[in-house]
Amino acid sequence: MTNKANITDKTVIVTGGNTGLGYECAKTIATSKDNWHVVIACRNNKNARQAVKKLIAETSNEQIEEMTLDLASLTSVRNFAKKFVVRELPPLRAVVCNAAIQIVTGTTYTEDGFETTFAVNHLGHFLLVNLLLKHLVSPARIVFVSSDAHDPEQKTGMPAPNYHDAKFLAWPDKDPPAKKESIATIGRRRYTTSKLCKIFCTYELSRRLQAEGHSTQQNPITVNAFNPGLMPGTGLARTYSPLERFVWSYIMPILPNMNTTRTSGKALARLVLDPELKGVSGKYFTGFKEAISSQESYNQKKALELWETSAELVKLTRVIPNPG
Ligand SMILES: NC(=O)c1ccc[n+]([C@@H]2O[C@H](COP(=O)([O-])OP(=O)(O)OC[C@H]3O[C@@H](n4cnc5c(N)ncnc54)[C@H](OP(=O)(O)O)[C@@H]3O)[C@@H](O)[C@H]2O)c1
Repeated sequence: MTNKANITDKTVIVTGGNTGLGYECAKTIATSKDNWHVVIACRNNKNARQAVKKLIAETSNEQIEEMTLDLASLTSVRNFAKKFVVRELPPLRAVVCNAAIQIVTGTTYTEDGFETTFAVNHLGHFLLVNLLLKHLVSPARIVFVSSDAHDPEQKTGMPAPNYHDAKFLAWPDKDPPAKKESIATIGRRRYTTSKLCKIFCTYELSRRLQAEGHSTQQNPITVNAFNPGLMPGTGLARTYSPLERFVWSYIMPILPNMNTTRTSGKALARLVLDPELKGVSGKYFTGFKEAISSQESYNQKKALELWETSAELVKLTRVIPNPG
């Protein structure tokens, strides 16, 4: 294998690249012939350092590093962006918004006062991408990791998303639902709703970048959403009961039609690497195939409301205008 020390010419950031899907995606990008400098953006420094060591050993690409990013803290997101932009790294060509959590044990709030699932899965990435936008060098790509669970038609067994407005998701206690649901169902619904938010963001940002001329056919900055399919065994079930975790880790992976992080990680990395996708933007991919996302995900009014409210919640001063 080639030692790629000092010959990288582009940088990718993968959030949550220390494990699961993000790790495999980072690994595929690091081994690609395109010579990427890979930054895994992670909340746990010790785990991140171990992952970097393993990635370097497995890929022989020495240009892999970790940077601290806790998506549950807007201060941490801002610090990450500040530190990243003063580094003299190869041009930033891709951001993969992969990290996520699912909490089935009750409502928790971040230090900023937002419901944690919405804050980590959506708001943190929303702020991160917006802070990095002007540092992306085209051709560049942004990928938001969603899930088929955002789409009730897919019958994934997860509760359908419930999107009314972003403030309700940020502060659910201010307007509790009339219908009584179990804590676990509420948590899973928050997760599927956050995955719908990822698709709203994908389509809205893609529209804005094109309308403002930041993304053109010659110099595209593309934005796409990705569904890895069900990949049992990952850390996503960390708040499940011991029995559910046992089934998730040992039973489900041997069932037919399951995906592995390795295969789905390759499919995710393809959205960053494949030259054929250079100008493809505002699309949803399931594994290696382009697909149709849920009917609701194409609702431009909701996408616009999510975008504008999110900008207000994270106190973003510079926002790309809406094309409409
Ligand atoms: N597994 C599935 O069946 C499935 C299906 C559809 C979609 N997905 C999506 O695939 C993506 C990857 O999930 P996975 O299955 O690989 O799960 P995973 O193994 O739990 O990986 C999630 C990653 O997100 C990181 N993370 C969590 N909270 C964070 C925070 N506050 N700040 C920064 N990073 C944070 C985790 O860090 P730590 O290691 O420190 O916890 C971990 O690196 C997610 O977007 C998920 O929604 C998964």
